[in-house]
Amino acid sequence: MMIETIGEWIAPYLQVPKEEAARRLETPPDPALGDAALPCFALARELRKPPQAIAAELAERIAHPMLTCRAVGAYVNIALRREAVAPRWLEAVEAPAFRAAREPRGERVVIDMSSPNIAKPFGIGHLRSTVIGNALRHILTADGYDVVRVNHLGDWGTQFGKMIAAYRAWGDAEQLERRPLAAALELYVRFHEEAERDPRLEDEARAWFAKLEQGDEEAAKLWRFFVDTSLQEFRRIYDRLGVEFEYELGESFYNDKMQPVVDRLQDAGLLETSDGAQVVRLDDEGLPPCIIVKSDGSSIYATRDLATAIYRRETLKGDRLLYVVGSEQAVHFRQVFAVLKKLGYAWADACAHVPFGLMRVEGKKMSTRKGRVVMLEDVLNEAVERAAAVIAEKNPALPDRRAVAEAVGIGAVVFGDLKHDREGAIDFRLEEAVRFEGETGPYAQYTHARIRTLLSKAEPAALEAAAPSPAALAGDDAWALLKQLSGYPAAVREAAERLAPSIVARYALDVAKAFNRFYHAERVLVDDPAEAAAKLRLARAAADTLQAALGLLGVEAPERM
Ligand code: ARG
Repeated sequence: MMIETIGEWIAPYLQVPKEEAARRLETPPDPALGDAALPCFALARELRKPPQAIAAELAERIAHPMLTCRAVGAYVNIALRREAVAPRWLEAVEAPAFRAAREPRGERVVIDMSSPNIAKPFGIGHLRSTVIGNALRHILTADGYDVVRVNHLGDWGTQFGKMIAAYRAWGDAEQLERRPLAAALELYVRFHEEAERDPRLEDEARAWFAKLEQGDEEAAKLWRFFVDTSLQEFRRIYDRLGVEFEYELGESFYNDKMQPVVDRLQDAGLLETSDGAQVVRLDDEGLPPCIIVKSDGSSIYATRDLATAIYRRETLKGDRLLYVVGSEQAVHFRQVFAVLKKLGYAWADACAHVPFGLMRVEGKKMSTRKGRVVMLEDVLNEAVERAAAVIAEKNPALPDRRAVAEAVGIGAVVFGDLKHDREGAIDFRLEEAVRFEGETGPYAQYTHARIRTLLSKAEPAALEAAAPSPAALAGDDAWALLKQLSGYPAAVREAAERLAPSIVARYALDVAKAFNRFYHAERVLVDDPAEAAAKLRLARAAADTLQAALGLLGVEAPERM
């Protein structure tokens, strides 16, 4: 907001449109230098004069009542007249409309997110997909998109053949009833161990999957059982994370939608036989061939994704299709999008893989096959326990301690993921993530709760008792906070453009830091009504902004902590 405003005000002196003026401005490295700086090098080349001379001339010429200018070398340093601007800006950032969603764009985004596999534990990778997808949903909604979330459950594929074969060999119905996911995982692990010794098991698994695809009753019944019990467990996790889906359409939903795709590929002359399988060659894209039908006639992940994309475009009416999936599947998505393109779907360009990196928890990696997994619920429970311990120490009298600990523990995990650049690897340490200081979710939550507590100590009338004192908003720390709050819309826009929730997470931390600096330096509950009104209203705007930013990330902001 600030750079835009300054751009608008100096535009007439530069004789350029206001957007262009704003583009030329930089943010000075040190706020003491001013609120914006205009480098004069380009202008100097154009006018064939030394940049220092241009800077001096401009500093002289710009005579806007809200600005003061000073030439320093080749730059014009520009400062806003704080006392004149601050009361207006306070009003601007206080308005709920300031943080409201943009005008609807009339464009629909379909986000493929979470998408765990049935009969396997909900892994950390699925957690990342869930929290990143959920944050993108909020951020893109705020940016004016109509967003639809789809959970593409892995409920089909050869692993079900393995599960069924394993169940028939060693399954214990009572165990499966009592602790379904753990028992299913044990079966899966045992299958892989035994199959190393006895490769015939793999053939058996393939045969069972083929039966399942042909609608065999026994296979179908076992499949249904695995799906239902897994879904129950996944739901529990989604409830805790506060995540919902507009659609839950597993891979099996596309079983009857794949043949038309295969036919179309056939008609277009795109299918070739290779080692008994049907493939689409993608040499021209520098990609390995995309297998469409395996040699045993069964379908494959990529075929289902082709049918899925077409469904999302034609039936769900998605203008953009996003896939929040780990970066290890990058080649798969490039293949799928390339095949769509070859089929003549121009909208293939509106499909995008939104990759994310690996997350290690406490230094451990995930591997479903070997059974050495970090169970997600254990991580969540542990985070909540730790949060409860900190709260018990800091605020033993807090009512509703369990609920707050849940919000803080879950918030710590979600924020601990989202504050990182999406594509990088994350070394997640619970102890760090649940701390109330440093760059954590609990720090942002705690700052928010502190402000709410502060506000509850003031007389409600104190906020409106007098016109806010401009001088109280013009001190360095108050001004820095106000500037920070004014950056909300820009942060959301940039996060939406770059599909980067980390921009919102960093923004929330910056607001929390700016508030704490202000709160540390100044007394807020003062006697002077104009000063108190200014400071309390600024604090309230900071709390509202923190709450909104955390909300975009899918993190709760308790009123008390
Ligand atoms: N179930 C898959 C996995 O766990 C992820 C699915 C991602 N979405 C998709 N449309 N392929 O690896």
